[in-house]
Amino acid sequence: MKILVTGGAGYIGSHTCVELLCRGHEVTVIDNFVNASRKSLDRVSEICGKKVKLYEGDVRDEKLLDKIFEENAIDWVIHFAGLKAVGESCAKPIEYYDNNIGGTLALVDSMRRHGVKKIVFSSSATVYGAPERLPLDETCRTGGTTNPYGTSKYFQEIMLGDIVKADPQWTVVLLRYFNPVGAHASGLIGEDPKGIPNNLTPFIAKVAIGELDEVGVFGNDYDTPDGTGVRDYIHVVDLAKGHVAAINKIRSAGVHVYNLGTGIGYSVMDVIRAFEKACGHKLKYSVKPRRAGDIAACYADATKAEQELGWCATLGIDEMCASLWKWQTMNPEGYNGK
Ligand code: WQD
Repeated sequence: MKILVTGGAGYIGSHTCVELLCRGHEVTVIDNFVNASRKSLDRVSEICGKKVKLYEGDVRDEKLLDKIFEENAIDWVIHFAGLKAVGESCAKPIEYYDNNIGGTLALVDSMRRHGVKKIVFSSSATVYGAPERLPLDETCRTGGTTNPYGTSKYFQEIMLGDIVKADPQWTVVLLRYFNPVGAHASGLIGEDPKGIPNNLTPFIAKVAIGELDEVGVFGNDYDTPDGTGVRDYIHVVDLAKGHVAAINKIRSAGVHVYNLGTGIGYSVMDVIRAFEKACGHKLKYSVKPRRAGDIAACYADATKAEQELGWCATLGIDEMCASLWKWQTMNPEGYNGK
């Protein structure tokens, strides 16, 4: 099938392009490279031996979107493009709602004009807000989000649901990611955050290569087995395969919602220990105060995706850490390196 991947040069986007191309799909990408490197697409081609068709630009550019749909008979859109840093979103709500909500509105409007009515949306476990219960299943309450990033994801889910109510011919797949980590086994593509990473595993990787001094453990007095925060880390390659499973399996119109997680929660200390195994040396860390907005624990009930999409995560925390370590050591400066 012909797939348009918005934000296809990004961390999850590039890994998804690899899985799509390697399974014979034709991939078109729109990306403005504000949060990604065009080198990632060169690496995607190196891995798959096939190229994506690239349109450089912003997903809010309706003329560019119309051009893409006029020039390509798109079967599905997989929509990653958007801003995604929780902390930054609190400082820049206007940019986050404009990019994330505005981008999705421009995209679906252009899709409608061209009769393309199948979209996979990159959603997030943050739409659950403070978990109603654990593990989180897809019937759990959503909303109560605590930052503009999470709220924008929640709003986009609502918007897409309303589109289906207005026109039942639409197929909308909401994939709620838990904590994506790791990198492709080749070490050629991976997460390349700008500046000091906000998320745990890229931060640990920078400590492991000696770029940062120590890991700050944000609180060890949570109601969890070792007192540190527990999350459902999922290998980015498993996550990417979940998108392929969705477009391959889903044939009926309507709204389809799936958690993409492993169902296993690991604490911050579990992750530090796992990464020490991967990098072969101890990592310095110190306990810091809790980070504002953090919750104690969050992990998925991922059985619905297994039952309906025939997909489940297969890679564990050791593979996540080993692949991230390989990416980091092969690319100490991310895509800006040699
Ligand atoms: C994980 C755990 C921290 C950094 C966010 C978004 C989510 C998704 C993934 C986009 C927590 C602790 C972290 C550090 C630490 N992003 N931690 N020291 O907050 O669960 O999820 O990123 O889709 O939508 O909400 O991920 O990696 O920031 O934190 O102790 O330097 O690690 O307290 O318990 P989070 P995270």
